[in-house]
Amino acid sequence: MKITEIVQTALITATIIILGMIPPLPLGFIPVPIVMQNLGIMLAAVILGPKKGTLAIFGFLLLALIGFPVLSGGQAGPAFFVGPTGGYLLGWLLTPLMIGYGLSRPFINRRWSRLSIIWFAGVLLVDVIGSVWLWLVSPISLIGSLVLNLAFIPADTLKAVAVYLVAERMRIWNKETTRL
Ligand code: BTN
Repeated sequence: MKITEIVQTALITATIIILGMIPPLPLGFIPVPIVMQNLGIMLAAVILGPKKGTLAIFGFLLLALIGFPVLSGGQAGPAFFVGPTGGYLLGWLLTPLMIGYGLSRPFINRRWSRLSIIWFAGVLLVDVIGSVWLWLVSPISLIGSLVLNLAFIPADTLKAVAVYLVAERMRIWNKETTRL
């Protein structure tokens, strides 16, 4: 990796951490808050591509795992990786690979298809993995968990649109950022 790529990866990791300083919004009916950090995850995937994006998110999750208060609201520690929000953290790690795979398909050249890929991998996939995990570690049923997670879709969709607009503005749809 070149120095500029290392700096870029570190800056995006820092952005994810800064977004975590925005206080999470508890919903009451589900033990998972609305956060802004997943916007940073999608941004990392789209701007850095699958490899550097995964590296940035892995680094961020590693910091959280070993106790640096980088998760939303200054949280940290191994308990978060096995608790109700553990599935979303797993989904975050997979997001750059999934978005990178989608964007690298030859037929992905339209605006709507790019936005759809970001939404499917950055929102739907993460929320589904998070729902299944929540079902496994809590008394909530699978259907109940999936239904409760629908609450995240509107705000998460707006975040995906914001990431898409940033990417359009930066004109980053090149081979380098989407190559697997
Ligand atoms: C954590 O800080 O432990 C992870 C929180 C995960 C929150 C998930 S991410 C997808 C969905 N959208 C949100 O705004 N909140 C949940």
